[in-house]
This record gives sequence, C-alpha cells and structure tokens, in this order.
Amino acid sequence: MATINGEVENGQPDQKPALPRPVRDLEVKFTKIFINNDWHESKSGKKFATYNPSTLEKICEVEEGDKPDVDKAVEAAQAAFQRGSPWRRLDALSRGQLLQQLANLLERDRAILATLETMDTGKPFLHAFFIDLEGCIKTFRYFAGWADKIQGRTIPTDDNVVCFTRHEPVGVCGAITPWNFPLLMLAWKLAPALCCGNTVVLKPAEQTPLTALYLGSLIKEVGFPPGVVNIVPGFGPTVGAAISSHPQISKIAFTGSTEVGKLVKEAASRSNLKRVTLELGGKNPCIVCADADLDLAVECAHRGVFFNQGQCCTAASRVFVEEQVYAEFVRRSVEYAKQRPVGDPFDIKTEQGPQIDQKQFDKILELIESGKKEGAKLECGGSAMEDRGLFIKPTVFSEVTDNMRIAKEEIFGPVQPILKFKNIEEVIKRANSTDYGLTAAVFTKNLDKALKLASALESGTVWINCYNALYAQAPFGGFKMSGNGRELGEYALAEYTEVKTVTIKLEDKNP
Ligand code: NAI
Ligand code: MG
Repeated sequence: MATINGEVENGQPDQKPALPRPVRDLEVKFTKIFINNDWHESKSGKKFATYNPSTLEKICEVEEGDKPDVDKAVEAAQAAFQRGSPWRRLDALSRGQLLQQLANLLERDRAILATLETMDTGKPFLHAFFIDLEGCIKTFRYFAGWADKIQGRTIPTDDNVVCFTRHEPVGVCGAITPWNFPLLMLAWKLAPALCCGNTVVLKPAEQTPLTALYLGSLIKEVGFPPGVVNIVPGFGPTVGAAISSHPQISKIAFTGSTEVGKLVKEAASRSNLKRVTLELGGKNPCIVCADADLDLAVECAHRGVFFNQGQCCTAASRVFVEEQVYAEFVRRSVEYAKQRPVGDPFDIKTEQGPQIDQKQFDKILELIESGKKEGAKLECGGSAMEDRGLFIKPTVFSEVTDNMRIAKEEIFGPVQPILKFKNIEEVIKRANSTDYGLTAAVFTKNLDKALKLASALESGTVWINCYNALYAQAPFGGFKMSGNGRELGEYALAEYTEVKTVTIKLEDKNP
C-alpha cells in the first residue's frame, strides 16, 4: 500500500526518489492545551507523561486537561461559531482554501510529523510517513474540495410555495481519537467538521498526544480564526467524558473500543442527545477461496493482520481458508510471519515495532495463551521478544475454531488466527456470526462468488482481492457493534450538517 506519490524524481528516469528521513534529535515544542489559537496550562496544574513505546523512555510531559479545560475550550468553540463571527462570515471557497493550506503545511512538515508519530506510537517511520501522513494530507485535500459544494435542494411542492433546504453546520463538534493512528483518525474527524463550517474540540489519546498538538500550531499558522479548533490532551474518564457529556457540544465523533463507544453514546444521550458517530472494534473475516491467487491472498492476509503491530480496527483477525488450499496457505503465511522484520521503528527495514503500552501488551499475550490452552496449533511466535520491552513475535495459529477466544475477541496485536472452511454458504454464516461488522475481505478469481460474498457479508466495507484499500473519497464505518455513521467520502458530510427546510408561501398565486 505504501506509495511514493508526490516524490520528485529528479528528472532522471532510473534514479529512485530518496527515502524520507526522520528528523534527528527532534525537539518537542507543543505540549500545552490549545484553545483560541493559544497555548494554555491546565487549570489543575497537572501534567502527564507520554512515552516512546520502543525504548520505554519518557518523551516529555504534556498539560493534563480536565473538565474545566474542556469547558474553556467549548466556550471558545462556541464563540467562534457565533453568527457574525469571522469563521461564520468566511465564504465557503475560502474555508476550502484554509483546509488546502493546512494540507500544504502538513506536506511541508511531513517528516517532522512522521518522526513525532513514530516516537509516540512506535510504528515504523516509513509507515507513518507513507501511510499515516499520506492519508491525513489526502483527507484534508479531499474535504477542502467539498467546502464550497455542500448544497441544499429545491423541493417541488405546489405552485404557490417555494421550498428549499440549506445544509448548515451543526455547531461545536467533539472528537475523541485513539492511539493507533493518532493523526489520521484526527484528520477523518477534523477535515469534514471544518469543511462543513463547524468548530471543534478534540481530545487525542493519552498515549499519543504529540502530533495532534503539533497540528494545533499549524492551525494557527494557517490562520484559522481563534476558537475554530481547540485541542485538550488528557485522559478518557476526565476529558473524554467531559466532551461526550457536554451540553453545548452538538455532535461527537469517537474512534476506539466498543466498550467506551457505549459510554460515549450514553453520555451523549443523557446530556443533550448530541449526534454521535462511532468507529469501534472489528473481528474482520478474510475469506480465501480455493480459486484465489494464493500469493496475493497470503501477502494481503499477512499485511492485513500484522500492519501497525496488529493494532488496527480493520485487522484481518479471522482468516477463513478453503480446505483444499488450507495447508499451503498456512505454510506460506508462517514463512511470511517468520521473516517479518521486527525492531527499531526508525530502521527503514523494520515492518513491526512495539505494542503501544503495557496494557495492550498484556492483553495480547493473555489472548495468545488462551489460544494455546484452547487447542489452536501455534505455528510460530507465541510470546514476547526476549528483553525487548513491548515487542511481540509475529504469531500464527492454525486449526483455530469459531468457539476459541482468539476467533471471537479483538486481539489488536500481531496474531494471525487461521480457520478452515468447506463451502461458501458455511463461511458466510460463520463470518457473520459476530457482533462486529467493520470490514471483510474476499480472495477469489470467480466474479460470481466475489459479488455473492460482497452482498452477503455484514460489514461496512468489503475488499475483493485487496486489503486496507482506504480512500478519502470512500465511506468507512461499521455495521452492528462496529459503529454508527460513516466517516470519509460524501457520506461524512451528512454527519456534520443539519438540514434546514425553508418553506416560502407566495402571496398571490395569480398576479
Ligand atoms: P479506548 O476506547 O479507551 O481509547 C480510545 C479513546 O477513548 C482515547 O482517547 C481514550 O482516552 C478515550 N476514552 C477512554 N475512556 C473514555 C470515556 N469514559 N469517555 C470518553 N472517552 C474515553 O481504548 P483503549 O483502552 O486504548 O484500547 C482498548 C481496546 O480498544 C484495544 O485493545 C482495541 O481492542 C480497541 N481499540 C480500537 C480502536 C479502533 O481503531 N477502533 C483504537 C483503539 C483501541
Ligand atoms: Mg507515547
């Protein structure tokens, strides 16, 4: 998936573009609460540390927000949204231009941001640069294009009535993001919110606040009016809960665990029935038919589950393989997993870094142990890397059955459970027998089979002969307990706009 679009080729056809380099000895400049285009200390005076999960070293301390800081941020966001404010008076085309300029600055500071993201998350630098930053920049550019194209309709009624709709911003939008794709998940929320003319209060995950805060500095540099974007770092039960229960926030977008998604929706209901979009977990089936291109299927399934240390809501964490090719698929998948380069995320050869924190690390190892106990066959890995902090060996289990915990629970780690199936009707049923419904993938050369599966699988996305193919233009979200609403694409605009019907009665129908 990693592409090097946009890299200059020096006009010499044979010369490959140079790989980007991380910024050495990067000084972390932005660690405070961002409100009204200014940096603030927390009202409580508290700070919290953010760590580099690869070295376990503390990177820096960040101001720790709480409810009073959220109140202040919401006040700023409300003032910026007032009728007649600079933001509300800005014409739609200029709003789009601000988003384009933000994308230009993200492009300019791409290596800094990718370095920060790698320090804070432990993900390989080249992935941060070519996947996270690429996706983030494209998301801002895509929604920049929508800013002046959000249109209502004229509704036919009767002769002496003119009826039309206006698509208006909803107001102050809250955003709560996770640590697995800190900047990208923020872009998925911020870009559509701003393109529709809303103002925003956002909380990055406590494990990974640094790129969001850096983005605050770019918001200011671009010249968004004060209060349009406010960023309050801190913890879920404090800052997150204050956002989801705030009576002056009109809409909230959340990405994270299903458990917390429920809390967010409850708080939203109890406070002011704010609109809620949720992007939650997945236990995504990846179905490999006997007629598939096996090389492609093995590689995609491998990347699909191991990408980002397995910490993806889209992870291919239930691989169903048709019995005729099962043994061969397992053999090749194990080969891939054994060769997976694990190590220093700043090393350009590295494909896998550490897990994000001790809690996730422990959860993954516990699930690996459950797999061993419940009778799955451990093909490789199965434990932490010796003396390496939060690193876990790429792990493959075969002979996995539907009742095992590793086939039911979201693992969020580098663990590939491979199951066997006999026919299409059976695999459809099994793939759908989960409360989740985020993504599914199908590998087959048979078009009828592909389309049948695409329609039968209960998930927000179905990939045929590819994996993690995400585009800013295409909606993303979950069926069932994987979430509510859609991010990205034109569909996202509906989440960030109110529709107003204006009906005008004409005075005289026969002038
Ligand atoms: P989490 O759901 O606690 O964290 C996501 C965000 O929610 C963070 O910003 C966190 O501070 C915030 N949050 C936590 N409690 C909150 C509350 N009461 N009110 C409002 N916001 C709150 O997820 P966590 O604990 O980091 O990971 C647990 C599991 O969740 C993972 O093992 C994985 O299975 C899943 N997960 C799924 C993600 C996805 O992309 N869908 C991302 C992160 C985790
Ligand atoms: Mg960190």
